[in-house]
Amino acid sequence: VEDGQVVGLGTGRAAAAFVRALAIRCKEGGVSVRGVPTSRATEELARELGIPLVDMTEVDEIDVTFDGADEVDPGLDVIKGYGGALVREKIVAAASRRLVILVGHEKLVSRLGQRGKLPVEILPFATALCRRRFAALGYPAELRPGPDGEPLVTDNGNWILDCRVERIPNPAHLDEALTAIPGVVGTGLFVEMADVVIVQDGDSVEVRERPA
Ligand code: A5P
Repeated sequence: VEDGQVVGLGTGRAAAAFVRALAIRCKEGGVSVRGVPTSRATEELARELGIPLVDMTEVDEIDVTFDGADEVDPGLDVIKGYGGALVREKIVAAASRRLVILVGHEKLVSRLGQRGKLPVEILPFATALCRRRFAALGYPAELRPGPDGEPLVTDNGNWILDCRVERIPNPAHLDEALTAIPGVVGTGLFVEMADVVIVQDGDSVEVRERPA
């Protein structure tokens, strides 16, 4: 991260660790950045730590975004959204010149879908239609419950359907098919979006770059 950059701030544990490290770099390293948070939780954390923020609606381009992931395949395609912030994460990622994903080695899979879940954010009004259409595609889905047992409401006021998946043969096609269903706001499939994946395994760190 360099002085003057606009930095996308992801959501989840890995992203929160990055936000804390960034705050230290800003305070002790004299680096000044503006952060674009991908969720209310990250916004709150960044504010507490004194990182200046800028609203996504006021930003043309983000220099670099750092975020976590739930699965990473060998081609650096990714599933995100177990934490529920997938739509804002995807918007911020799409607006970024560079997307850096931070994961522990347990998130590496040989094929996306291996952990069994694909989150999809939907408009509540479209729940029945989406569930029917997802099932017809071979992906039965359940509404994600919130802490009160009612459907979890995302930062965008929507609900999340968690599709039951196995190894996904073609993530790009599935993303397209799901996104085409009326009421789908976005899927957790991030295809050809990550530029770099930084993998932690104990004390060692491996940097994987998408081939140019
Ligand atoms: C939030 O919606 C997610 O995409 C998270 O970025 C992802 O689940 C990784 O989170 P952890 O770093 O907490 O595992």
